Amino acid sequence: MTEVFKVDPLNPDIRVIEKCAEILRSGGLVAFPTETVYGLGASMFNPQAVRKVFEIKERPFGNPLIVHISGLEQFSSVVAEVPEQAWRLIKAMWPGPLTLVLRKSHRVPDIVTGGLPKVGVRMPAHPVAIKLIELTSVPLVAPSANLSGRSSPTTAEHVIQDLYGRVDAIIDTGETLLGIESTVVDLTTTPPILIRAGPVLVETLESMLNTKVKVPAHARGLRQEDREVPRSKYTHYKPGTPLVLVEMNNYSNLLRLAKEVSKVAQHYLNKGYRVGVIASKETQHYYSRLSRVKLITIGSRKKLYEVAKNVFKVLRSLNSLNIDVAICEGFDERGLGLAIMSRLREASRQNIIKVG
Ligand code: TXA
Ligand code: MG
Repeated sequence: MTEVFKVDPLNPDIRVIEKCAEILRSGGLVAFPTETVYGLGASMFNPQAVRKVFEIKERPFGNPLIVHISGLEQFSSVVAEVPEQAWRLIKAMWPGPLTLVLRKSHRVPDIVTGGLPKVGVRMPAHPVAIKLIELTSVPLVAPSANLSGRSSPTTAEHVIQDLYGRVDAIIDTGETLLGIESTVVDLTTTPPILIRAGPVLVETLESMLNTKVKVPAHARGLRQEDREVPRSKYTHYKPGTPLVLVEMNNYSNLLRLAKEVSKVAQHYLNKGYRVGVIASKETQHYYSRLSRVKLITIGSRKKLYEVAKNVFKVLRSLNSLNIDVAICEGFDERGLGLAIMSRLREASRQNIIKVG
């Protein structure tokens, strides 16, 4: 049985949060909102509950979970060693959408980190998440609350689609603020390595750390397996409908982009496919003459946070649109564009058409 609790994010009913904390303390699983996406929470100190998280999500045991803390008192029970660089980021960015990978404390059960000596940890910037961790009184593991391989959930409805009947409770506070998962950076190496692009930009990390951050191809959403990085071994964000991504070297000529996307759309229309086009606000009008195409607007190129917020919602909506294939415009990879493009490239399963 799954209980769904609607909660006001800014003025949460403490009795509901207390009830969910009790479920977590007794080894149950609770899906809860963060500022990025919904997480599937369990007590970090309860290996059976952590095992259930992997099983319920159908997640490979080698793919480690992020530990969520509500305050710095809990931090010392999670990590063994905190380099000076980490403190600089923590002071500026926590609570917030930044996960630091550091040497783990012996108190973190091996199942949490997939046997790795490192642990990912973050302090979420969401009043309900913080209250839930505080009342549970232990750090919570919380992967995104989706079935493994699917898009991360930005609403409680998405969690219900994937996990209803498998979790004890879902806390519903509506749509999450940012819509993409936290930036993950490994600070145990020199230079630091970006594991997942996210709301905290590489450019920001580099200027705060005063050093280059390595951005491997897999963190840009391109297929490149690295034995040291679990994330690079798995596929993510599978949409219900095949996706083709059209990329350019630069996006100064949007008419050209729209022409290339239209060409691909026409190719599939000619084959008798039902086609969708995922376009930006700036380019959507170019597709009005493609009458048989279902047009989906993902947000403005001038407000990439809008695109980031919509990307998983759009990917999840594709299979209810009665289309056989979706053609998606690419975005400039600078700034937040990197996080967006890494999601779209993975969702396309490398089905990428590159035009000069
Ligand atoms: O925004 C988020 O980070 C959300 C919310 C719920 O907090 N959580 C989330 O967790 O996205 P998850 O498990 O879906 O993604 C965590 C990613 C995975 O790709 C995992 O491989 C990587 O972080 N990761 C976690 N711990 C790691 C570690 N110790 N070393 C390397 N990578 C790690
Ligand atoms: Mg995930």
